[in-house]
Amino acid sequence: MIHPINIANVNFQKIREIGQDGKNSSCFIVRDLQLDSEIVMKEVFKKNIADATQYFDEARLLYASNHQNVVDILYACEDNDKIYLAMPFYERGSLKQLMTERYLTTREIIKFACQVLSGLHNIHSKGLIHFDLKPDNVLLSSRGDALLSDFGLAKQTQLGLAKPNKAYVICAAPELVTPDNIDLRFDIYQVGMLLYRMCCGVESHRTQLALKGINDGHALHAAIVSKNYPDRSAFPEHIPEALRKVTKRCLEPNPDDRFQSALDVANALAKVDQCLDWLFSDQGNKTWRRPYDGGEVVFEVDAAGTGDFRTIKAGASRRKKAHCREGLRRSDVQRILRDES
Ligand SMILES: Nc1ncnc2c1ncn2[C@@H]1O[C@H](COP(=O)(O)OP(=O)(O)OP(=O)(O)O)[C@@H](O)[C@H]1O
Ligand SMILES: [Mg+2]
Repeated sequence: MIHPINIANVNFQKIREIGQDGKNSSCFIVRDLQLDSEIVMKEVFKKNIADATQYFDEARLLYASNHQNVVDILYACEDNDKIYLAMPFYERGSLKQLMTERYLTTREIIKFACQVLSGLHNIHSKGLIHFDLKPDNVLLSSRGDALLSDFGLAKQTQLGLAKPNKAYVICAAPELVTPDNIDLRFDIYQVGMLLYRMCCGVESHRTQLALKGINDGHALHAAIVSKNYPDRSAFPEHIPEALRKVTKRCLEPNPDDRFQSALDVANALAKVDQCLDWLFSDQGNKTWRRPYDGGEVVFEVDAAGTGDFRTIKAGASRRKKAHCREGLRRSDVQRILRDES
């Protein structure tokens, strides 16, 4: 006799917890004893999911979204208390981890964004809205490519619309307040927040909330729809105008004013061709570096606007006098970075 359902066991040993960022789930590096390999196991308590028919929604959406810019899922299983999602272990971690270490160059921002957009185009074409696009939810493959991950909030649309169960409000589109009317352009806004954070720094948006004294939902919504948050004037000087424009258009409060698809954003990003390789740091003075002819170019500007521009090669350092002067304004710094890129 053939039983309709077979129940089999999966054995794995926990090695260590990773990704403590998440609130609803835990991720562990584990040794899968059958596969004799280290993989990642994401555990979600069943009590966080009231409806038993939805236990495997995240796993199913991830499996259905198979694509070179979406994380792989190996299998999904359950025990009495939890749902388990087995994934490859991406040792390079998340984009957020990289962004916490340093600023990204414009070239990296465009590369990562286009890869995320390629994964996003794939899920949108299947009628899914991700609802939780942010640097923590972009993992890096062994080749350093961006992979869209964490489908914990993703939803299948009905007639183009879907209602999020919840959202990370400080990166959420303003239509969150009318949840019956949300379409895939919610994700386009979140692409805008992702671009913004890649340009301005991973916690720049959060710092602005504290500075502007925005500490409740009404104030946040008002700031988003009046374009006071995130601050459109906070882009560092090396971020080219074309990239600022793309970011700002994604962040338009009215979905009709945004790019209408992930592909449209990627096409606009492909046209960004200035200031690609400046590596910015702002510990103390503002400093930009880029490789040049086996050496590097270093441009440093102090708080008073005094610039120091040098080419350093084989231990020898040459100053470029025209850029080594006092009283540099933001627009001067922007022009120098553009002309010297
Ligand atoms: N396969 C993986 N390889 C490497 N790191 C991972 C992997 N999966 C998850 N992580 C790390 O764990 C973190 C949390 O994982 P994930 O985003 O899937 O869950 P979560 O944020 O806890 O979910 P939720 O938002 O539903 O609580 C990620 O930001 C990442 O740093
Ligand atoms: Mg996450």
